This record gives sequence, C-alpha cells and structure tokens, in this order.
Amino acid sequence: MSTVPQSVLVDGIGTLVTNDPELGEGPLGEIHDAALAIDTGHVAWCGPRGAAPGTDARVDAAGRCVIPGFVDSHSHVVFAGDRSNEFGARMSGRPYEAGGIRTTVAATRAATDTELSDTAASLVREAHAQGTTTLEIKSGYGLTVADEERLLRTAARFTEEVTFLGAHIVAPEYAGDPQGYADLVTGAMLDACAPHARWIDVFCEDGAFDAETARRVLQAGQRRGLAPRVHGNQLGPGPGVRVAVECGAASVDHCTYLSDADVSALAESAAEGPGTVATLLPGVDFSTRQPYPDARALLDAGACVALASDCNPGSCFTSSVAFCIAMAVREMRMSPEEALWAATAGGARALRRSDVGHLAPGARADLTLLAAPNPIYLAYRPGVPQVAAVWKDGELVSG
Ligand code: NIG
Ligand code: FE
Repeated sequence: MSTVPQSVLVDGIGTLVTNDPELGEGPLGEIHDAALAIDTGHVAWCGPRGAAPGTDARVDAAGRCVIPGFVDSHSHVVFAGDRSNEFGARMSGRPYEAGGIRTTVAATRAATDTELSDTAASLVREAHAQGTTTLEIKSGYGLTVADEERLLRTAARFTEEVTFLGAHIVAPEYAGDPQGYADLVTGAMLDACAPHARWIDVFCEDGAFDAETARRVLQAGQRRGLAPRVHGNQLGPGPGVRVAVECGAASVDHCTYLSDADVSALAESAAEGPGTVATLLPGVDFSTRQPYPDARALLDAGACVALASDCNPGSCFTSSVAFCIAMAVREMRMSPEEALWAATAGGARALRRSDVGHLAPGARADLTLLAAPNPIYLAYRPGVPQVAAVWKDGELVSG
C-alpha cells in the first residue's frame, strides 16, 4: 500500500458512476466530464470538472470511467489445497457435490497459519487488482472449534466483513450425527468464534443442513450478536430462501433454484426494507455447469439483487467480479447498469453497509478507475482486464 497526500483530486473523469441518482443522470447517478475529491479516506466532493475544489494533489483519469469499488459480499478465500482435478472431472460430466468441501477441509486443517494467511493475502491482492474494495470472507473449511477460530482470525486480518460458517457441512467426525454437530456449532464453536465475526452463515441444502437446523444455527448466532446470512437454493429447490427471510437475514446467496413463492418472499422483504438481498453467484453456476439464476424474475418482482464472486477452491475459483457482471449481462438478462449496481450498491446492501458501494460525499473513498470510457465495457470486453487503478479508503491499492 502506498501513502497518498491528504487530499487528492481525481480529475478528467469521462463518466463518474456515483450510484446516487440525486447526483447525476439515470439510475447510476452518472456525471460526465467529472472530478472527485478524496480527503482523509473519504469522498469530499464530486461533480462537474470546472467546479472542483483545490486539493494537495491531482490524478488525471484521462477521460476514463470511475465506478465505486466492487463490494464482493461472498467469498471463502481462507483455505488450503487444490481442487482443479475436481473441476476437470465436472467439465467431463461429473456433477458438483457439496461433499467436495471435505477435500478442502482436510487440506485446510493440515495447513499452517502462515500458509493460510499467505493464500488469503494473495487472493485479496488479486481481488483488489480487479477492482474489489470490500470483500466478505467466511470460515467453513475448519469445522473444529480450533480450526474455525483460526480461519476467522485469519480472515479478520484482511476484512471487517468476517462470517462464521461452522455450519458449512457436517464435520467428518460427526458423519451420521448432524444434530450432534449442530450442538457443537451452536455451543463451544460459537463461543470461540463469535468474538471474531460479524455474521453467521449456514448452508441450508440437501446434503448440508435442513431448515430446522439452519434456523437453530442462525438464532444461536443472533443471540451472540452475529447477524444472519444464508447459503441456499444452490443445488435444487429448498427452504433456504424461506428460512433466510423468516430470520431477517441480510442476504440469501446462490438462489439458483427459486420457486415463485421464493421470488415473492424476497420481493416483499425488499419492499419492507432493509430486507433480505438475493445475492447471485453466477461464477458458481458457470463452474458447476448449472443453470444461471433467474435474475430477471427477481428484479421484475422488485427484489434487491447483489452479485458476488463466491471465490472458493471448489464451486467457483474466480475473484473477478467483472467476470460475474459479464455473465449476469449475457446469461441472466441483467442490463449493464443493473449488473454494475448489483456488484457495488447491491453488495453493500447485502452487507448492510451505507459507507461503501456509492460515491456520494461522505462515503469511503473506495473507487475503481476503469481502463475504459464507460461501465458497459465490463461486459462488452469479457475476460479482458478493464481496471487501471483502485483506491481503498483513499489509498491506492492497485495501479
Ligand atoms: O458457496 N455452498 C456451499 N459452499 C461453497 C462451496 C464450497 C466448496 O465446494 O468448497 C459455495 O459454493
Ligand atoms: Fe459460498
């Protein structure tokens, strides 16, 4: 990380996406021929170039586009091991199974703290270089009290958005005894883990945890001050969305298989606000050869949609939010504007954050300079890096 002067003007911005319709045109609040002033880690001002205030330093955007940094609200970047062969087998016709998680659990338990931290650091750097400025990180590959705690401590070195996912799958030691494992997760494991996390998550799916156990896990976390989020409706229709909405979860993630009732429940919860966000993870559907989620049905019904990477070694090993945007636009019938909003402001909603995901004065100075004149390029040039520079809390972290 490099040190920057106290105030910086990012000048000569061709298109500035503020995500605040009161500040500019259209749903993304776009300002053309714009400038943005950063002061002590926050956005101090943004508007038309001519009206910019004086600052200590100036950066020339050279007519390119500035967007809020991506808010990637779902990742599992603290792990060890390699599952490329599992991916290869899937691409030759084998189905994805949640049981593959056990391969990563074994490798993660055998890894040293330094190995775990080095892998996470390199993936966080990779994410920053691709425009992500907020990254949620989950545990879930330890599944013992000591291992889950050390994964959370590792995650907390890289992010404020730390999620306890002891209820990822039933630990191998408890095979055939899911209730015994749930007792551990909601007892000694929660005692050790709650101080290191902000969120509690559960994988509510056939092959993982049923609705009743998922509710039990989320409620135990809530009693310890953790806010709920859910993995659900990934591998088939199921109760994940229902449980998430009932428990007031900030987000239900995957949403690949939704019933009409699920879509209505998510839309109703968005109308009541802050509601449960439907976080779509198209990289998973790409990497597991599943159908893509029906983003159009969710958006048309009025649900709040976020896009995230789910970066993990099993179901989706990408940290590229731009790739997720390209899939959402091409395969899920989201407009480029909807997809960008979902990957920035939508991610912020999924993390219940108002200081990131937009660039109004007072927001954190988390911004991404694209090597492109407008944000359509994120989907228009799939697979081609479109990020020129990234600032997080006003500091240049990439570029
Ligand atoms: O979000 N759904 C459950 N957990 C991860 C998959 C993890 C893995 O396969 O290792 C997910 O897709
Ligand atoms: Fe996940």
